[in-house]
Amino acid sequence: MRTEVVHHPLVAHKLTTLREASTDSPTFRRLADELVTLLAYEATREVRVTDVDIETPVAATTGVRLATPKPLVVPILRAGLGMLDGMMRLLPTAEVGFLGMIRNEETLEASTYAERLPEDLSGRQCYVLDPMLATGGTLAAAIRFLTDRGADHITAICLLVAPEGCERLERELADLDVPVTVVTAAMDERLNELGYIVPGLGDAGDRLYGVAHG
Ligand code: URA
Repeated sequence: MRTEVVHHPLVAHKLTTLREASTDSPTFRRLADELVTLLAYEATREVRVTDVDIETPVAATTGVRLATPKPLVVPILRAGLGMLDGMMRLLPTAEVGFLGMIRNEETLEASTYAERLPEDLSGRQCYVLDPMLATGGTLAAAIRFLTDRGADHITAICLLVAPEGCERLERELADLDVPVTVVTAAMDERLNELGYIVPGLGDAGDRLYGVAHG
């Protein structure tokens, strides 16, 4: 597994405002959206393309188009939804599958509660959207889910990652014969005793969508 931290002043600028506790939900949603588009540019460096012959108004030449099967974008519900538009802006012809994963706040273990994905993902490049790579349990389970269905190239886009989460991902996916890359705006210091990333930005889902009880 490869972790790539995108170093760019605009990424750092937007992330700083996202982190601030005083940033309201509408601003948080807009900045998360913009930040994902910047991260997506880096994350799609290895998107598969095929050569095509074209005619410009001046001459015949060759170029590339996105290959088939189309890339699959997989937001992890609920917070990953806040990253979907920013990703699709860059990959408008990608398909979208949904994966609902929830973390038990006591055990910190992840389980699947909803899924809308093709049964067969053979030969598919998947872009998983999950804002916070904290303990790594959710992302590891999501990646395993996709590779079990045949996905052969995985890129996860996370706004923030914790070293503990990256280490767990590395450990749990060590046997996987599929390249996995995590692209992020920052590697933070650590997790606190509640499983939150420090300094982090708080609960990404709550900051995007408010606190849902029930
Ligand atoms: N999930 C979040 O939304 N924030 C964290 O800091 C950790 C997990």
